Amino acid sequence: MSSAALLNELQLAQDLVTALLEPLDDDSQRLQYHSELSPLGWHLGHCTYTECYWLQEIVLQDNRYTAPVETLYTPARTPKPERGRLLPPLDALLQWVLSMQAMNRDILSAPSPDLLQHPLMQDDYLLHFLIQHYSQHYETMLSALTQRALHEDSGPFRVTTPFTPVQPITDSISMQPGHYRVGGRAPVACDNELPAQQVMLGPYRIARNPVSNAEYLAFMDDAGYSTQSLWSDAGWQWRTQAMAGSPDHWRQDDAGHWYGSGVRGAYELDGSDVVHGLSHHEASAYAGWADARLPHEHQWEVACRLHYLEQTGRAWEWCHNPFFPYQGFQAFPYDGYSTPSFDNRHYTLRGGSFHTRPAIKRASFRNFHEPCKRHIFAGLRLVY
Ligand code: AVJ
Ligand code: FE
Repeated sequence: MSSAALLNELQLAQDLVTALLEPLDDDSQRLQYHSELSPLGWHLGHCTYTECYWLQEIVLQDNRYTAPVETLYTPARTPKPERGRLLPPLDALLQWVLSMQAMNRDILSAPSPDLLQHPLMQDDYLLHFLIQHYSQHYETMLSALTQRALHEDSGPFRVTTPFTPVQPITDSISMQPGHYRVGGRAPVACDNELPAQQVMLGPYRIARNPVSNAEYLAFMDDAGYSTQSLWSDAGWQWRTQAMAGSPDHWRQDDAGHWYGSGVRGAYELDGSDVVHGLSHHEASAYAGWADARLPHEHQWEVACRLHYLEQTGRAWEWCHNPFFPYQGFQAFPYDGYSTPSFDNRHYTLRGGSFHTRPAIKRASFRNFHEPCKRHIFAGLRLVY
């Protein structure tokens, strides 16, 4: 993509994030809809601050715009529960955001030769980074709006066409053992996708499709949530403590039929749609119940590159393995993006969800979350 096209992409990503604030009033921009999620106003401020940080403070060596808001918008400096109260009034926030973004886009659209010398500006790296940063926060904001819908009492919803359980569909692709290339490419790749490398894979079979709502319902109906032998110790402990009994994004009507709750409120679930709202623990228990397991992330990536997988990008797909650094990993543009999550407590997810922007959807992109997280749009695909 040309620099001009990337600048358009940046503006598009900025506008999408900003538009999510437009229907809100000042009180609601400050609300935390989930203990893991920041107020919506904070996401917008943080994305704009991040843009100013890299372009103004780091590249242009000017901290006039960042210094006053650094504490508020640096995640480690202000805990989530404090963020709402500390935000500026919504109209002031929006005004600041629009003026900062316009100023930054002006600089990026006519960069001085000096500016272009900076390593972060090589091959439009900074534009790629900022587009992807906005895009990731955009999806997180949509998960916050989903949580709002789940916890708002929007009156009774009645399912008109309940979906029925379906036994696991075993349609799968046989993969040849061998050496395959995995990993990303600069300037698009995040640090954790590099260096690209060859991996050796043994033979495996991977499901053509991710697990559907109807298949997941069969697991629930077969006492999946109360059969301890399907769960790891940590998973069982989580299930008990979270009192989990269905995907996080599902609710039950008075007749006992399941429906979904999304950004626009309650909706009828389609049995053949990809299930989401699952933790890694639930995904693993389902896989055990179906006599299968979760893929290693490289099994997923190789099959995806060969275009064997259907319905990628509908829900993030939990992988079997913890998130880990590739051989030769070097953190960039800062240590905090990936390194703190190489802790064996995070698991990789692949593919993207229906709320993921195209800038993030690529075979090599590695998302990562703790195994108990289920407010994200995550499901699974099986390997045999
Ligand atoms: C990779 C999606 C887990 O949202 O916490 C955003 C991405 N990093 N800002 C997150 C991220 C810094 C990250 N995830
Ligand atoms: Fe961020």
